Amino acid sequence: MCGIIGYVGARQATPILIGGLRKLEYRGYDSAGVSVSSSGASKVVRCRGKLAALEEKLLKEPAPGTTGIGHTRWATHGRPSDENSHPHKVGPISVIHNGIIENHRALRNELAAAGAKFSSETDTEIFAHLVERALVGSADLAAAVRKSLARVRGSFAFVVMSDKEPGTLVAAKNSSPLVVGLGDGENFVASDVTAILSETRKVIFVDEGEMVVVKASGVVVTDFEGKVHPREPKIITWSAVQAEKGGFKHYMLKEIHEQPRAVADTLVGRIDLEHDDVLFDGIDLDVTKIKRIIFIACGTSYHASMVGEFLVEALARIPVEVDLASEFRYRDPILGPGDLVVAVSQSGETLDTMEAIREAKKQGAKVLAISNVVEASIPRLADYAFYTHAGPEIGVASTKAFTTQLVAMALFAIYLGRRTNKLSKERARDLLAELVALPTKMREIVESGAQIQSLARRYGSAIGFLFLGRGSQYPIALEGALKLKEISYIHAEGYAAGEMKHGPIALIDENLPVVVLAPRGPYYEKVVSNLAEVRARQGKVLAVATRGDQDIGSNADDVILIPDTALELQPILTVLPLQMLSYYVADFKGTDIDQPRNLAKSVTVE
Ligand code: G6P
Repeated sequence: MCGIIGYVGARQATPILIGGLRKLEYRGYDSAGVSVSSSGASKVVRCRGKLAALEEKLLKEPAPGTTGIGHTRWATHGRPSDENSHPHKVGPISVIHNGIIENHRALRNELAAAGAKFSSETDTEIFAHLVERALVGSADLAAAVRKSLARVRGSFAFVVMSDKEPGTLVAAKNSSPLVVGLGDGENFVASDVTAILSETRKVIFVDEGEMVVVKASGVVVTDFEGKVHPREPKIITWSAVQAEKGGFKHYMLKEIHEQPRAVADTLVGRIDLEHDDVLFDGIDLDVTKIKRIIFIACGTSYHASMVGEFLVEALARIPVEVDLASEFRYRDPILGPGDLVVAVSQSGETLDTMEAIREAKKQGAKVLAISNVVEASIPRLADYAFYTHAGPEIGVASTKAFTTQLVAMALFAIYLGRRTNKLSKERARDLLAELVALPTKMREIVESGAQIQSLARRYGSAIGFLFLGRGSQYPIALEGALKLKEISYIHAEGYAAGEMKHGPIALIDENLPVVVLAPRGPYYEKVVSNLAEVRARQGKVLAVATRGDQDIGSNADDVILIPDTALELQPILTVLPLQMLSYYVADFKGTDIDQPRNLAKSVTVE
């Protein structure tokens, strides 16, 4: 996600802000900016592009002063541009923000009706307007921020500066990370400890629902009502490199742990609980005209598309095909105006997928892109774009980009199902409630690494693995095998469990670990039979099953139990232990997990 830094003290703020933002560059961003205040007059300098472009601009337009805020933006609402860059300034107020304001549309309409003029497409600018209005007739910035916080829903870390109250920063947190750094006669605020580590190691991690008033003389933490929360600072002992990874050994592990938050961000603003429906802002698809949906994608995104096939056919009863983008145009596909092509890509830049979109458009089909990167080539080429908001993914092996794609698929299928009338309001309500409950369940799984770590040690020296699943667990078996191959270089195959007897069964002996996806559901009995077939041939079975399953233990050598959820959403949970298994096996082998040999994050060649 975006990067935040703030400084209050006696030194010039700009070099400290730029230095801090530079430490956050690795996370990816598309624009940057600062607002620096000198005796109550702040100056904003910001631009699209990299920090070097901002520094160049600052040479021509210096921003002197000893209080300031800086931001690197990774576009979510509104394309990357100078105007959409942070900080946003409205009257005396400068604001930087990470996260998403869920009710931004309603607030924008309300503010516009009251005469507010907007100069960007962002949800962030709305908060600057709210604070500016709340500050009329008062000089208490903290009170104005408190009042404005009561109006916004969503995930956020805000830092606000006011020309009326020099030498003060007010920050607030809900979901997005925020940390305060304590110096000597100076203090800092940042989205990540990395940004301030060269300045101080004494920090306070801001908790959910907390606000902080930061001055050079001290820091006060309160809740959103103003009640003081006494907090003891912590001393950070991580190295700068460890800090970049949030204290995790690898980016991949950090990103595995980020999944509950990433999924919550995908859901922000998309669920309409009042009408038991999904909101697809800015996508005005005429669902009645869709006769067929064709997913095109590569790699992990292809596996997400295969899950999409199950979801759309089950919930909306629209026929679906799934194609590898690299194969699509070479088979001379037959397409027409009744077809909706859905191009799925975490990077939004994969050349094979772009070429497939060009072919689809040439033949008159409409194209919806599901992408993690706003305004990347694929969403720009498509007719409509849905963004997954997972935040930048640095590990080459995709984890949070994948689970957020699965959530996108579920939202899409519910959206279609409500409009084709194949999904009842009641069922939609249940599924939406289950979606909302997912982040908590995901957190439970990702935080139970110790068991998977010991299984990885036990099975990690095998020379091959087989992954089996039925129904929508089949693509997850493929994904589990792909993850393991990608980062541990162990050969692995994913198979539809029912197909095992038609070939792979020949491979089974006491040296082949077989990972079987056996969550509760209609295929459970059949999967257990497949599992028995493996064990009858001395194969080692590692089952992923639903908590409360009393029988699975007698059918498997090892069992990983996960929380229950709706059948349609199970893939979002079952994939987590497989990602973790791959990670720990690779870690055990000592491979280069974040940059596996021969692989690239974004593949822009055919
Ligand atoms: C590369 C990446 C994979 C990814 C695939 C498709 O091979 O290493 O992780 O699944 O490209 O990329 P896309 O960005 O289109 O999802």
